[in-house]
Amino acid sequence: MSCTIIVGGFFGDEGKGKVVAHIANTDRPTIISRGGVGPNAGHTVQVGTKEYGVRMVPSGFVFPDAKLCIGTGVLVDPRVLKHEVDTLGVRGRVFVDRRCGVITEDHIARDKGNDYLAKKIGSTGSGCGPANADRVMRVSPQAKDVPELAEYLIDVPETIDKELQAGNPVLLEGTQGFGISLYFGTYPFVTSKDTSASQIAADNGVGPTKIDDVIVVFKAYPTRVGEGPFSTEMPAAESDAMGIQEFGTVTHRKRRIGGWDGEMARYSAMINGCTIAAITGIDRVDSACFGIKDYGKLTKKAKEFLKSAEDDIGCPIGLISTGPEVTQIIDIRDELA
Ligand code: IMP
Ligand code: MG
Repeated sequence: MSCTIIVGGFFGDEGKGKVVAHIANTDRPTIISRGGVGPNAGHTVQVGTKEYGVRMVPSGFVFPDAKLCIGTGVLVDPRVLKHEVDTLGVRGRVFVDRRCGVITEDHIARDKGNDYLAKKIGSTGSGCGPANADRVMRVSPQAKDVPELAEYLIDVPETIDKELQAGNPVLLEGTQGFGISLYFGTYPFVTSKDTSASQIAADNGVGPTKIDDVIVVFKAYPTRVGEGPFSTEMPAAESDAMGIQEFGTVTHRKRRIGGWDGEMARYSAMINGCTIAAITGIDRVDSACFGIKDYGKLTKKAKEFLKSAEDDIGCPIGLISTGPEVTQIIDIRDELA
């Protein structure tokens, strides 16, 4: 049995979607199941020249043999889910836990219409905060109460457990990032739930003793969307001059860009129980590394960056992303002891 969790180590948008897609293609999990808050997350997956943005369906959908699940703790927006199932052509492979919280039009209106959430916190306006609040108040509908979701309903923890019992690999996909965890992040500038690996396990009803690996994804140049502290943030002019410009997958807001934060990386690795680190955007540290698939071909500058990042994180780097496309990655997990 092997159960792996993937989470974001900084403020979200670290490139988890791409790392999940690579691991799905390589490790061939029979189930890929999402934890995390809900459709406030946007993951980008690029296969060849085609780019997909997903908010509900797990990013591992690119591996066609995996069942795609949405764990119990996640909030489901039936409209977003239906749209993705239709556009990605994954009907029949997508399953939702019957107890998931459901996002209604009212939650979205309350998220967008609330100045504290929309302006001070800079929420994504996807209804997640109000939906989680209603879930805690025990007045929110569950997936099993919504006819549009009837075709997807299963017991996700039980489905995952059957695969683990059979010795099959399972991938639990986290969303958001450590810095916006409700518990451990920069409160109150955070999302509406914890985002650490323990939460992703809990979202899927997988007990801590069943987890084998926790992969924490760090971006060489971290980004943050929305408000809140960002200690290594650069002036936009500086990141623009470096050619780094990013826009949110969900909100299309311009992302704030910062330098590597070793202290945050270490703290995040500690709380996540990181066993393998993944570094994305190494081509921004040295553009000569773009698209490289072989560790030996990385430049001295990139290798020095990785060495120092590994010292900060305190656990080995097993994956290095060298560009946005799913195959632009160096996977040295096998070489780690
Ligand atoms: P909410 O989760 O929509 O309430 O937004 C709260 C804060 O978390 C805002 O600063 C959002 O920009 C941020 N946030 C929520 N989800 C994500 C994500 O998936 N990536 C990056 N930032 C996010
Ligand atoms: Mg994102």
